[in-house]
Amino acid sequence: MLQDKRILLILTGGIAAYKGLDLIRRLRERGAAVTPVLTRAAEQFVTPLAVSALAGEKVYRDLFDLTDEAEMGHIQLSRSADLILVAPATADIMAKMAQGRADDLASTLLLATDTPVMIAPAMNVRMWDHPATQRNLAQLRRDGVTVIGPNDGDMACGEFGPGRMSEPLEIVAAVEAHFGPRPMSGKHVLITSGPTHEPIDPVRYIANRSSGAQGAAIATALLDLGADVTFVTGPATVAAPQGARIVAVETAQEMQDAVTAALPADAAIFAAAVADWRVDRASDSKMKKQKGTLPTLRFAENPDILAHVAQMVDGRPGLVVGFAAETDDVVANATAKRTRKGCDWIVANDVSPETGIMGGTENAITLITQDGAEPWPRMAKGRVAQQLAQRIADALT
Ligand code: CTP
Repeated sequence: MLQDKRILLILTGGIAAYKGLDLIRRLRERGAAVTPVLTRAAEQFVTPLAVSALAGEKVYRDLFDLTDEAEMGHIQLSRSADLILVAPATADIMAKMAQGRADDLASTLLLATDTPVMIAPAMNVRMWDHPATQRNLAQLRRDGVTVIGPNDGDMACGEFGPGRMSEPLEIVAAVEAHFGPRPMSGKHVLITSGPTHEPIDPVRYIANRSSGAQGAAIATALLDLGADVTFVTGPATVAAPQGARIVAVETAQEMQDAVTAALPADAAIFAAAVADWRVDRASDSKMKKQKGTLPTLRFAENPDILAHVAQMVDGRPGLVVGFAAETDDVVANATAKRTRKGCDWIVANDVSPETGIMGGTENAITLITQDGAEPWPRMAKGRVAQQLAQRIADALT
């Protein structure tokens, strides 16, 4: 709940500004007072009238609006809030913030403030990936700015990838986490994430398509609840969560060693897509083509890290959570997997191509516990992570 919280919401110019309208509603539903600020570019996407009608407050737009200065100077405006939220945050506002520029009302407020700042970036994938944006992002994090998202997904510009603004409910949850109690404070959570790479020779390996997105989102959600997170990750394509202790590994065996070294933990979450097999005795030198003969790879079984930890006699984490990606009989298969591996919960999802979940922005999971199967409604992957983190917090406290 956000009762009695005043949020200065800065909308900057991107197509995601339309989600800003819903965000205002959601924040107000939870009791927050929202003071909106629009940049010139944002006005191209949403009208000041719509924003002020939803916020129930005057919209601030211009640094040199003397009436505003008479009523409330920009310094006071920036400091009267409990939180400044920039959503959507364009590459341009991030660059201005990182450089400390103040050439319009929004950037001046951000420079003049001493209140916490959160941003929800939204931009084209190339702009997000550009080294300049990544430099600015790193600088903003160093400056103490909290970054929400962005998500991977289809964009209004027709491209796919990171840069899509988090959904309003994900942003609201991050805001609530900022103000709320930190139920995971003092709890150590171990998370495995990403794929593993199993070498064939020094240049070739066997891999899988896991991006590491779900594991990173769960880590972020647990960090928001105050957990101390060790994040053991294979070579993932998404960035590792800021604020976690990151242990980068390549193979399943290295992941197993890193997990063992990171224990004890209050909870362990196994979101990694671990290769079930490795190449037995990978070649030390590059395998050469030989005319007329095909190479034969012999496989050896990898350790089942989840089963190993779930069945530990001494030092088993209080809560052990596994994942199951299924295409058929999701609940039956995942329920059997929970018993076979000895874990407490299984997060099962249907990855049949027609669900669009693999590589998509949404997920529909079924949580399997000792009490049975609980289907969750389809929602953004970040939201799944936040709700799962909350359930973990409830189970541990
Ligand atoms: N897991 C693990 N170590 C392995 C293999 C899997 O920790 N060597 C964990 C994964 O992180 C995940 C769960 O076990 O939490 C998945 O179990 P797995 O038996 O690999 O199931 P699936 O990949 O879903 O496939 P299968 O249908 O082969 O059972």
